[in-house]
Amino acid sequence: MSNDKSSEDSGLTRRQYVAGTGAVAGVSLAGCMGQSEDTGTDGSSEASLEIVHWWTAGGEQEAYQSLLTGFQEAYPEVEVTDNPAPGGAGSAIDAVIQNRVIDGNPPSTFQIWPGKALSPYTDEVLLDPIGDSVWDAEMRDAYLDGVIELSRPAGDFVAVPINIHRLNNLFYNVSVLEAAGVDPATIDSPGALVTAMEAVAAETDATPMAHQTAAPWSSLQMWESILMGEADVDSYQALLEGNAEDQESTIRSALETLAEYAAFYPEDAGSISWDQGNNQVIEGNAAFIHQGDWAAGQYGGADGFEFGENWDMIPFPGTEGVYHSVIDSFVMPTNNPSPEATEKFLNYAGSVDAQERFNPIKGSIPPRTDVPMDQFGAFLSRQFEDFQGSDAQPPTIAHGTGVTPATQSALSEAFANFNGNLDVDQAFEGIRNAF
Ligand code: GAL
Repeated sequence: MSNDKSSEDSGLTRRQYVAGTGAVAGVSLAGCMGQSEDTGTDGSSEASLEIVHWWTAGGEQEAYQSLLTGFQEAYPEVEVTDNPAPGGAGSAIDAVIQNRVIDGNPPSTFQIWPGKALSPYTDEVLLDPIGDSVWDAEMRDAYLDGVIELSRPAGDFVAVPINIHRLNNLFYNVSVLEAAGVDPATIDSPGALVTAMEAVAAETDATPMAHQTAAPWSSLQMWESILMGEADVDSYQALLEGNAEDQESTIRSALETLAEYAAFYPEDAGSISWDQGNNQVIEGNAAFIHQGDWAAGQYGGADGFEFGENWDMIPFPGTEGVYHSVIDSFVMPTNNPSPEATEKFLNYAGSVDAQERFNPIKGSIPPRTDVPMDQFGAFLSRQFEDFQGSDAQPPTIAHGTGVTPATQSALSEAFANFNGNLDVDQAFEGIRNAF
Protein backbone atom coordinates (compact mmCIF):
# COMPACT_ATOMS: atom_id res chain seq x y z
CA MET A 1 0.00 0.00 0.00
CA SER A 2 1.31 3.43 -0.88
CA ASN A 3 0.67 4.59 2.68
CA ASP A 4 3.38 2.55 4.16
CA LYS A 5 5.84 3.02 1.35
CA SER A 6 6.32 6.60 2.43
CA SER A 7 7.90 5.42 5.66
CA GLU A 8 11.46 5.36 4.44
CA ASP A 9 11.12 8.90 3.18
CA SER A 10 9.58 9.83 6.47
CA GLY A 11 12.55 8.26 8.29
CA LEU A 12 14.87 10.61 6.43
CA THR A 13 12.64 13.53 7.08
CA ARG A 14 12.44 12.65 10.71
CA ARG A 15 16.21 12.60 11.00
CA GLN A 16 16.54 15.95 9.32
CA TYR A 17 13.83 17.37 11.49
CA VAL A 18 15.32 16.13 14.68
CA ALA A 19 18.86 17.05 13.69
CA GLY A 20 17.73 20.55 12.85
CA THR A 21 15.23 21.06 15.62
CA GLY A 22 16.71 24.35 16.77
CA ALA A 23 16.58 25.81 13.31
CA VAL A 24 13.09 24.48 12.70
CA ALA A 25 11.82 26.02 15.88
CA GLY A 26 13.43 29.36 15.10
CA VAL A 27 11.72 29.55 11.75
CA SER A 28 8.51 28.23 13.15
CA LEU A 29 8.19 30.64 16.03
CA ALA A 30 8.98 33.60 13.79
CA GLY A 31 6.46 32.38 11.27
CA CYS A 32 3.92 31.77 13.98
CA MET A 33 3.99 35.30 15.24
CA GLY A 34 3.50 36.73 11.79
CA GLN A 35 0.62 34.47 11.07
CA SER A 36 -1.50 34.92 14.13
CA GLU A 37 -2.13 38.53 13.10
CA ASP A 38 -3.70 37.34 9.86
CA THR A 39 -6.16 35.00 11.49
CA GLY A 40 -8.00 37.55 13.56
CA THR A 41 -8.33 37.38 17.34
CA ASP A 42 -11.94 38.24 18.08
CA GLY A 43 -13.06 34.60 18.06
CA SER A 44 -15.85 35.21 15.57
CA SER A 45 -13.62 34.55 12.57
CA GLU A 46 -11.98 31.46 14.00
CA ALA A 47 -10.73 29.00 11.43
CA SER A 48 -12.33 25.56 11.39
CA LEU A 49 -10.82 22.85 13.57
CA GLU A 50 -8.25 21.04 11.45
CA ILE A 51 -7.26 17.60 12.74
CA VAL A 52 -4.26 15.74 11.30
CA HIS A 53 -4.12 12.02 12.14
CA TRP A 54 -3.30 8.66 10.54
CA TRP A 55 -6.42 6.69 11.37
CA THR A 56 -7.53 5.61 7.93
CA ALA A 57 -7.03 1.83 8.19
CA GLY A 58 -9.64 -0.82 8.99
CA GLY A 59 -11.36 -0.20 12.34
CA GLU A 60 -9.37 2.97 12.98
CA GLN A 61 -11.33 5.01 10.49
CA GLU A 62 -14.61 3.98 12.13
CA ALA A 63 -13.29 4.71 15.62
CA TYR A 64 -12.13 8.15 14.57
CA GLN A 65 -15.47 8.89 12.88
CA SER A 66 -17.34 7.95 16.01
CA LEU A 67 -15.11 10.31 18.00
CA LEU A 68 -15.94 13.11 15.57
CA THR A 69 -19.65 12.34 15.75
CA GLY A 70 -19.56 12.63 19.53
CA PHE A 71 -17.58 15.85 19.31
CA GLN A 72 -20.03 17.39 16.84
CA GLU A 73 -22.95 16.43 19.07
CA ALA A 74 -21.28 18.15 22.00
CA TYR A 75 -20.07 21.19 20.04
CA PRO A 76 -22.27 21.59 16.94
CA GLU A 77 -20.97 25.14 16.36
CA VAL A 78 -17.44 23.92 15.52
CA GLU A 79 -16.67 23.22 11.90
CA VAL A 80 -14.19 20.33 11.49
CA THR A 81 -11.66 19.88 8.70
CA ASP A 82 -10.47 16.29 8.66
CA ASN A 83 -6.97 16.05 7.23
CA PRO A 84 -5.51 12.53 7.43
CA ALA A 85 -1.85 11.70 6.78
CA PRO A 86 -2.27 7.94 6.17
CA GLY A 87 0.49 5.48 7.07
CA GLY A 88 0.65 2.85 9.81
CA ALA A 89 2.30 3.96 13.06
CA GLY A 90 2.40 7.54 11.82
CA SER A 91 4.94 6.71 9.14
CA ALA A 92 3.86 9.69 7.02
CA ILE A 93 2.65 12.22 9.57
CA ASP A 94 5.98 13.70 10.65
CA ALA A 95 6.78 15.08 7.22
CA VAL A 96 3.39 16.79 7.10
CA ILE A 97 3.59 18.25 10.59
CA GLN A 98 7.21 19.30 10.17
CA ASN A 99 6.48 21.29 7.03
CA ARG A 100 3.42 22.89 8.56
CA VAL A 101 5.37 23.90 11.65
CA ILE A 102 8.25 25.30 9.58
CA ASP A 103 5.78 27.36 7.58
CA GLY A 104 4.20 28.73 10.76
CA ASN A 105 0.97 27.11 9.67
CA PRO A 106 0.25 24.29 12.14
CA PRO A 107 -3.07 22.46 12.10
CA SER A 108 -5.39 22.99 15.07
CA THR A 109 -4.34 19.67 16.54
CA PHE A 110 -2.57 16.49 15.51
CA GLN A 111 -2.22 12.90 16.64
CA ILE A 112 1.03 12.13 18.45
CA TRP A 113 2.26 9.60 21.01
CA PRO A 114 2.70 11.15 24.46
CA GLY A 115 5.96 10.79 26.41
CA LYS A 116 9.31 11.00 24.62
CA ALA A 117 7.76 11.53 21.19
CA LEU A 118 6.75 14.99 22.35
CA SER A 119 10.31 16.07 23.14
CA PRO A 120 11.19 17.96 19.91
CA TYR A 121 8.05 20.01 20.49
CA THR A 122 8.46 20.63 24.20
CA ASP A 123 12.19 21.38 23.79
CA GLU A 124 11.33 24.21 21.43
CA VAL A 125 8.08 25.30 23.09
CA LEU A 126 5.93 24.46 20.07
CA LEU A 127 2.96 23.24 22.14
CA ASP A 128 0.74 25.44 24.28
CA PRO A 129 0.41 24.41 27.92
CA ILE A 130 -3.10 23.07 28.60
CA GLY A 131 -2.83 22.43 32.34
CA ASP A 132 -5.42 25.10 33.18
CA SER A 133 -7.64 25.15 30.12
CA VAL A 134 -8.07 21.39 29.65
CA TRP A 135 -6.55 19.39 32.50
CA ASP A 136 -8.93 20.47 35.25
CA ALA A 137 -9.21 18.72 38.61
CA GLU A 138 -11.90 16.38 37.34
CA MET A 139 -9.66 15.09 34.54
CA ARG A 140 -6.60 14.80 36.76
CA ASP A 141 -8.60 12.71 39.21
CA ALA A 142 -9.96 10.44 36.52
CA TYR A 143 -6.82 9.59 34.54
CA LEU A 144 -4.35 6.83 35.36
CA ASP A 145 -1.26 8.31 37.02
CA GLY A 146 1.18 6.84 34.50
CA VAL A 147 -0.75 8.37 31.62
CA ILE A 148 -0.82 11.75 33.36
CA GLU A 149 2.96 11.69 33.55
CA LEU A 150 3.28 11.00 29.82
CA SER A 151 1.06 14.03 29.18
CA ARG A 152 3.51 16.44 30.81
CA PRO A 153 6.98 15.13 29.94
CA ALA A 154 8.60 18.55 30.43
CA GLY A 155 6.47 19.75 33.35
CA ASP A 156 3.46 21.47 31.77
CA PHE A 157 0.53 19.44 30.50
CA VAL A 158 0.70 19.50 26.69
CA ALA A 159 -1.22 16.40 25.49
CA VAL A 160 -4.57 14.65 25.98
CA PRO A 161 -4.24 10.84 25.71
CA ILE A 162 -7.32 9.12 24.42
CA ASN A 163 -6.54 5.37 24.47
CA ILE A 164 -4.25 2.59 25.65
CA HIS A 165 -3.37 -0.11 23.14
CA ARG A 166 -1.49 -3.28 23.96
CA LEU A 167 1.39 -4.13 21.66
CA ASN A 168 2.48 -7.60 22.82
CA ASN A 169 -0.29 -9.61 21.19
CA LEU A 170 -0.10 -12.68 19.00
CA PHE A 171 -3.40 -12.88 17.12
CA TYR A 172 -4.36 -16.04 15.29
CA ASN A 173 -6.98 -17.56 13.04
CA VAL A 174 -8.55 -20.43 15.01
CA SER A 175 -9.34 -22.67 12.00
CA VAL A 176 -5.88 -22.33 10.51
CA LEU A 177 -4.25 -23.36 13.77
CA GLU A 178 -6.64 -26.28 14.09
CA ALA A 179 -5.83 -27.41 10.55
CA ALA A 180 -2.13 -27.20 11.39
CA GLY A 181 -2.61 -29.13 14.63
CA VAL A 182 -1.14 -26.27 16.65
CA ASP A 183 -2.35 -25.74 20.21
CA PRO A 184 -1.66 -22.08 21.04
CA ALA A 185 -1.22 -22.99 24.71
CA THR A 186 2.01 -24.75 23.78
CA ILE A 187 3.59 -21.62 22.28
CA ASP A 188 5.38 -20.54 25.41
CA SER A 189 8.48 -18.79 24.06
CA PRO A 190 9.50 -16.83 20.96
CA GLY A 191 11.39 -19.95 19.83
CA ALA A 192 8.30 -22.15 20.24
CA LEU A 193 6.52 -19.84 17.80
CA VAL A 194 9.01 -20.96 15.12
CA THR A 195 7.93 -24.56 15.71
CA ALA A 196 4.26 -23.55 15.44
CA MET A 197 4.91 -21.67 12.19
CA GLU A 198 6.74 -24.69 10.78
CA ALA A 199 3.63 -26.77 11.45
CA VAL A 200 1.42 -24.20 9.69
CA ALA A 201 3.78 -24.21 6.69
CA ALA A 202 3.87 -28.02 6.58
CA GLU A 203 0.17 -28.76 7.18
CA THR A 204 -1.72 -25.89 5.48
CA ASP A 205 -1.58 -23.54 2.50
CA ALA A 206 -1.75 -20.54 4.81
CA THR A 207 1.03 -18.04 5.40
CA PRO A 208 2.34 -18.62 8.91
CA MET A 209 2.94 -14.95 9.89
CA ALA A 210 1.04 -12.10 8.21
CA HIS A 211 3.85 -9.60 8.67
CA GLN A 212 4.49 -6.48 6.58
CA THR A 213 7.98 -5.22 5.73
CA ALA A 214 7.04 -2.29 3.46
CA ALA A 215 7.62 -0.02 6.46
CA PRO A 216 10.09 -0.91 9.23
CA TRP A 217 7.91 -0.28 12.29
CA SER A 218 6.25 -3.71 12.40
CA SER A 219 9.62 -5.49 12.51
CA LEU A 220 10.90 -3.03 15.10
CA GLN A 221 7.88 -3.72 17.31
CA MET A 222 8.17 -7.50 16.83
CA TRP A 223 11.81 -7.31 17.87
CA GLU A 224 10.74 -5.42 21.02
CA SER A 225 8.31 -8.21 21.85
CA ILE A 226 10.82 -10.97 21.11
CA LEU A 227 13.43 -9.28 23.29
CA MET A 228 11.01 -9.00 26.18
CA GLY A 229 9.82 -12.57 25.63
CA GLU A 230 13.32 -14.04 25.55
CA ALA A 231 14.80 -11.84 28.29
CA ASP A 232 12.55 -9.75 30.54
CA VAL A 233 11.08 -6.32 31.08
CA ASP A 234 14.12 -5.17 33.07
CA SER A 235 16.44 -5.84 30.13
CA TYR A 236 14.07 -3.96 27.88
CA GLN A 237 13.91 -1.02 30.28
CA ALA A 238 17.69 -0.98 30.56
CA LEU A 239 17.83 -0.72 26.81
CA LEU A 240 15.41 2.23 26.84
CA GLU A 241 17.78 3.90 29.25
CA GLY A 242 20.52 3.55 26.66
CA ASN A 243 22.43 0.48 27.88
CA ALA A 244 22.67 -1.25 24.50
CA GLU A 245 26.23 -2.49 25.15
CA ASP A 246 25.16 -4.32 28.32
CA GLN A 247 22.26 -5.88 26.46
CA GLU A 248 24.29 -7.10 23.48
CA SER A 249 23.43 -10.78 23.86
CA THR A 250 19.70 -10.17 24.35
CA ILE A 251 19.63 -7.75 21.41
CA ARG A 252 21.43 -10.23 19.15
CA SER A 253 19.34 -13.17 20.24
CA ALA A 254 16.11 -11.29 19.49
CA LEU A 255 17.47 -10.32 16.07
CA GLU A 256 18.35 -13.95 15.33
CA THR A 257 14.85 -15.07 16.25
CA LEU A 258 13.33 -12.31 14.12
CA ALA A 259 15.49 -13.46 11.21
CA GLU A 260 14.06 -16.97 11.65
CA TYR A 261 10.52 -15.57 11.55
CA ALA A 262 11.23 -13.89 8.20
CA ALA A 263 11.01 -17.26 6.43
CA PHE A 264 7.31 -17.34 7.36
CA TYR A 265 6.18 -13.94 6.06
CA PRO A 266 3.80 -13.54 3.10
CA GLU A 267 5.30 -13.38 -0.38
CA ASP A 268 3.97 -9.85 -0.69
CA ALA A 269 5.28 -8.73 2.74
CA GLY A 270 7.31 -5.98 1.09
CA SER A 271 4.33 -4.28 -0.47
CA ILE A 272 1.44 -4.65 1.98
CA SER A 273 0.28 -2.51 4.90
CA TRP A 274 -0.39 -3.90 8.39
CA ASP A 275 -4.14 -4.01 7.79
CA GLN A 276 -3.71 -5.85 4.49
CA GLY A 277 -1.63 -8.41 6.40
CA ASN A 278 -4.36 -8.58 9.02
CA ASN A 279 -6.89 -9.19 6.26
CA GLN A 280 -4.99 -12.35 5.35
CA VAL A 281 -5.68 -13.58 8.90
CA ILE A 282 -9.36 -12.64 8.59
CA GLU A 283 -9.65 -14.49 5.27
CA GLY A 284 -7.97 -17.59 6.64
CA ASN A 285 -4.96 -17.15 4.37
CA ALA A 286 -2.61 -16.56 7.28
CA ALA A 287 -2.26 -18.06 10.75
CA PHE A 288 -0.68 -15.44 13.00
CA ILE A 289 -0.08 -11.72 13.18
CA HIS A 290 1.90 -9.80 15.77
CA GLN A 291 0.23 -6.41 16.10
CA GLY A 292 -1.13 -3.99 18.60
CA ASP A 293 -4.77 -4.55 19.41
CA TRP A 294 -5.75 -2.06 16.71
CA ALA A 295 -5.79 -5.35 14.76
CA ALA A 296 -8.76 -6.44 16.89
CA GLY A 297 -10.46 -3.17 15.97
CA GLN A 298 -10.30 -4.35 12.37
CA TYR A 299 -11.75 -7.76 13.31
CA GLY A 300 -14.68 -5.92 14.91
CA GLY A 301 -15.69 -4.67 11.47
CA ALA A 302 -15.25 -8.03 9.71
CA ASP A 303 -18.49 -9.95 9.14
CA GLY A 304 -18.58 -13.50 10.42
CA PHE A 305 -15.20 -13.24 12.14
CA GLU A 306 -15.95 -13.67 15.80
CA PHE A 307 -13.72 -13.50 18.84
CA GLY A 308 -13.19 -16.95 20.37
CA GLU A 309 -14.79 -18.77 17.47
CA ASN A 310 -12.76 -17.50 14.51
CA TRP A 311 -9.92 -15.54 16.06
CA ASP A 312 -8.18 -15.29 19.37
CA MET A 313 -5.00 -13.91 20.86
CA ILE A 314 -2.32 -14.91 23.33
CA PRO A 315 0.13 -12.46 24.86
CA PHE A 316 3.29 -12.61 22.77
CA PRO A 317 5.09 -15.77 24.00
CA GLY A 318 7.17 -15.04 27.09
CA THR A 319 5.47 -11.69 27.81
CA GLU A 320 2.46 -12.77 29.89
CA GLY A 321 1.92 -10.26 32.67
CA VAL A 322 3.27 -7.42 30.52
CA TYR A 323 0.95 -4.80 29.04
CA HIS A 324 3.25 -3.15 26.54
CA SER A 325 1.41 0.12 26.10
CA VAL A 326 0.87 2.23 23.00
CA ILE A 327 -0.93 5.50 23.61
CA ASP A 328 -2.25 8.20 21.27
CA SER A 329 -2.90 11.80 22.18
CA PHE A 330 -3.84 15.18 20.74
CA VAL A 331 -2.03 18.47 21.34
CA MET A 332 -2.44 22.25 20.96
CA PRO A 333 0.34 23.57 18.70
CA THR A 334 1.41 27.17 19.37
CA ASN A 335 0.14 29.82 16.99
CA ASN A 336 -3.05 27.82 16.92
CA PRO A 337 -5.33 28.70 14.02
CA SER A 338 -8.46 27.94 16.11
CA PRO A 339 -7.57 28.15 19.81
CA GLU A 340 -11.15 28.06 21.07
CA ALA A 341 -12.23 25.15 18.91
CA THR A 342 -9.00 23.27 19.69
CA GLU A 343 -9.60 23.71 23.40
CA LYS A 344 -13.12 22.33 22.96
CA PHE A 345 -11.79 19.34 21.06
CA LEU A 346 -9.09 18.59 23.65
CA ASN A 347 -11.64 18.88 26.43
CA TYR A 348 -13.86 16.47 24.56
CA ALA A 349 -11.03 14.00 23.86
CA GLY A 350 -10.42 13.85 27.59
CA SER A 351 -14.06 13.09 28.42
CA VAL A 352 -15.83 9.86 29.36
CA ASP A 353 -18.13 10.21 26.35
CA ALA A 354 -15.23 10.43 23.86
CA GLN A 355 -13.35 7.51 25.36
CA GLU A 356 -16.45 5.37 25.63
CA ARG A 357 -17.24 5.88 21.95
CA PHE A 358 -13.74 5.67 20.54
CA ASN A 359 -12.00 2.81 22.34
CA PRO A 360 -14.36 -0.15 21.83
CA ILE A 361 -14.14 0.37 18.06
CA LYS A 362 -10.43 1.17 18.06
CA GLY A 363 -9.50 -1.98 19.99
CA SER A 364 -8.07 -0.09 22.96
CA ILE A 365 -8.95 0.55 26.59
CA PRO A 366 -9.50 4.01 28.09
CA PRO A 367 -6.85 5.97 30.03
CA ARG A 368 -9.61 7.40 32.23
CA THR A 369 -10.52 5.09 35.08
CA ASP A 370 -14.23 5.97 35.15
CA VAL A 371 -15.35 4.89 31.66
CA PRO A 372 -18.16 2.29 31.78
CA MET A 373 -16.77 -0.94 30.32
CA ASP A 374 -20.05 -2.67 29.42
CA GLN A 375 -19.83 -1.78 25.71
CA PHE A 376 -16.27 -3.05 25.28
CA GLY A 377 -17.07 -6.64 24.35
CA ALA A 378 -15.45 -9.87 25.48
CA PHE A 379 -12.00 -9.34 23.99
CA LEU A 380 -11.38 -5.83 25.31
CA SER A 381 -12.86 -6.79 28.66
CA ARG A 382 -10.22 -9.52 28.84
CA GLN A 383 -7.51 -7.07 27.79
CA PHE A 384 -8.73 -4.68 30.49
CA GLU A 385 -8.47 -7.44 33.09
CA ASP A 386 -4.97 -8.24 31.84
CA PHE A 387 -4.07 -4.56 32.12
CA GLN A 388 -5.34 -4.38 35.68
CA GLY A 389 -3.52 -7.56 36.61
CA SER A 390 -0.30 -6.71 34.75
CA ASP A 391 3.09 -6.54 36.44
CA ALA A 392 4.47 -3.92 34.05
CA GLN A 393 3.20 -1.51 31.40
CA PRO A 394 6.41 -0.38 29.69
CA PRO A 395 6.38 2.26 26.94
CA THR A 396 7.28 1.32 23.38
CA ILE A 397 10.06 2.11 20.94
CA ALA A 398 8.24 1.66 17.63
CA HIS A 399 5.34 3.77 18.88
CA GLY A 400 7.43 6.51 20.38
CA THR A 401 6.42 6.79 24.04
CA GLY A 402 9.73 5.33 25.24
CA VAL A 403 12.43 6.88 23.03
CA THR A 404 13.02 10.24 21.39
CA PRO A 405 12.11 10.62 17.72
CA ALA A 406 15.84 10.74 16.88
CA THR A 407 16.42 7.32 18.45
CA GLN A 408 13.25 5.90 16.98
CA SER A 409 14.19 7.14 13.54
CA ALA A 410 17.68 5.63 13.72
CA LEU A 411 16.15 2.32 14.83
CA SER A 412 13.62 2.45 12.01
CA GLU A 413 16.48 2.77 9.57
CA ALA A 414 18.26 -0.21 11.16
CA PHE A 415 15.11 -2.32 10.82
CA ALA A 416 14.44 -1.17 7.26
CA ASN A 417 17.89 -2.54 6.43
CA PHE A 418 17.32 -5.67 8.49
CA ASN A 419 14.09 -6.38 6.61
CA GLY A 420 16.18 -6.41 3.44
CA ASN A 421 19.31 -8.29 4.50
CA LEU A 422 18.60 -10.03 7.87
CA ASP A 423 22.16 -9.09 8.83
CA VAL A 424 22.34 -9.42 12.62
CA ASP A 425 25.78 -7.80 12.95
CA GLN A 426 24.80 -4.77 10.94
CA ALA A 427 21.49 -4.43 12.80
CA PHE A 428 23.25 -4.68 16.16
CA GLU A 429 25.58 -1.85 15.14
CA GLY A 430 22.61 0.23 14.07
CA ILE A 431 20.82 -0.42 17.37
CA ARG A 432 23.92 0.37 19.42
CA ASN A 433 24.42 3.64 17.56
CA ALA A 434 20.75 4.54 17.85
CA PHE A 435 20.90 4.27 21.64
C1 GAL B 1 0.12 3.25 16.34
C2 GAL B 1 -1.03 4.03 16.91
C3 GAL B 1 -2.26 3.21 16.85
C4 GAL B 1 -2.45 2.62 15.46
C5 GAL B 1 -1.20 1.98 14.93
C6 GAL B 1 -1.30 1.47 13.51
O1 GAL B 1 1.28 4.00 16.38
O2 GAL B 1 -0.72 4.39 18.22
O3 GAL B 1 -3.36 3.97 17.25
O4 GAL B 1 -2.91 3.62 14.61
O5 GAL B 1 -0.14 2.87 15.03
O6 GAL B 1 -1.29 2.50 12.59
